[in-house]
Amino acid sequence: MRTLVKHVLKAAEPSDSVIVKGWIRTRRDSKGFSFLEINDGSCLANLQVVIDDGTPGAEAIQQFTTGASVMVTGKLVPSPAQGQKWELRASKAELLGTADATYPLQKKGHTAEFLRTIAHLRPRSNLYGAIFRMRSRLAFAVHQFFQERDFVYVHTPIITASDCEGAGEMFRVTSLKGNVDEKPEADFFGKRTYLTVSGQLEGEAFASALSNIYTFGPTFRAENSNTTRHAAEFWMIEPEMAFCDLQGDMDLAEEFIKGLAKFALEDCGEDLALFAKFVDKALNERLKFVVERPFVRVTYTDAVEILKRSGKKFEFPIEYGSNLQSEHERFLTEEHFKSPATVFNYPREIKPFYMRLNDDQKTVTAMDVLVPGIGEVIGGAQREERLDQLEANMKSHDLNPKDYWWYLDLRRYGSVPHAGFGLGFERLLMFLTGVPNIRDVIPFARTPGNAEF
Ligand code: 4AD
Ligand code: MG
Repeated sequence: MRTLVKHVLKAAEPSDSVIVKGWIRTRRDSKGFSFLEINDGSCLANLQVVIDDGTPGAEAIQQFTTGASVMVTGKLVPSPAQGQKWELRASKAELLGTADATYPLQKKGHTAEFLRTIAHLRPRSNLYGAIFRMRSRLAFAVHQFFQERDFVYVHTPIITASDCEGAGEMFRVTSLKGNVDEKPEADFFGKRTYLTVSGQLEGEAFASALSNIYTFGPTFRAENSNTTRHAAEFWMIEPEMAFCDLQGDMDLAEEFIKGLAKFALEDCGEDLALFAKFVDKALNERLKFVVERPFVRVTYTDAVEILKRSGKKFEFPIEYGSNLQSEHERFLTEEHFKSPATVFNYPREIKPFYMRLNDDQKTVTAMDVLVPGIGEVIGGAQREERLDQLEANMKSHDLNPKDYWWYLDLRRYGSVPHAGFGLGFERLLMFLTGVPNIRDVIPFARTPGNAEF
């Protein structure tokens, strides 16, 4: 039976027979024996293996090169070397798959740009191994967070006919072979369909039955923005709560980010230490700050005033009624508040149709959570639960209420105040790891011009 390196390294006592399997990071030959550093991805650390000349398998030692896969059986003994408790004294070493000198991860210190061109191999490097272990742990933490609070996990569809965000940035899904502009009736679903930009509308249907729900799945946006924070395919977590208003929504968003930061600090220590050393020196302090301190809350109107009074030259000038650009968001959270900040009550014109109109008739119950280094990680709102108003919103957004008949039904039958938000999982990972590019926290990034692998 094979033991993962992670467990081998945590052993409480020596052992006569241990089997490990993994990939060779390095080999050093000495007089009469060789050292191997083996990594199997179960943790950041390698296991040191000592192979004496004459050990079965050692005759092929020259083929035990960086990148090759091996199986080693041996004795686990205290290591005389510094910085490691155990090493494996091989009684048998078997080469499973060779790797010749063309293996691209020979030396350390490749650029992120280069590693993106070998996205199929980069998880074998220290940094990317750590990122993707942490991604897995945080996905688990997301489920734990909501399940502990009695939220029901709902799988909303990936193929949809509605454009939730109304931004028209959708990928078409069609089975038409020739002319894709043929009548929609001729297509597979009998109507035009797309990859979803959000599971929110369907999430609202389920919240209107199961009270508190969340989704966690892939979403797709055909926005042609080549930035460090946009991907065409990303994962979103969308809770939706019946009997909840904007206040409760902002509270949950804050609790959620704090909860995930706390989980990262408690659960991912070894990997976080690597990020703190090589990616972002201030990482641990920032995460502790996020866990301990309440987020700032500010209305859009006040945020615009702050930006105007800042005296700062922005690329996009800011006026009441314009969207907050990333530079504005980052100024607010990084320079002005020096804290995560939730901006709420935006002008109705710049937000989607489903948000609830405030009594001022000017603003809607939108909220965005901004964090340092990233800008927006969460976008959410209290939803318009009044049928008449929702229909009016649709018309002013040039949407045909007929296309949304089932969504309007939720307001016809037992409508309740409700609210929710969407958290971009990759943006959260960037925030929690300090990794500055979204392409490096998703296994195989999809961005304009890139769908390799
Ligand atoms: O603000 P957005 O567009 O909100 C919605 O989709 C709502 N329907 C959510 C809801 O209320 N249920 O997107 C939510 C979050 C953003 O704050 C951002 O973190 C992330 O999704 N996001 C992206 N992440 C990576 N690449 C992109 N192109 C993204 N677009 C949005
Ligand atoms: Mg948004």
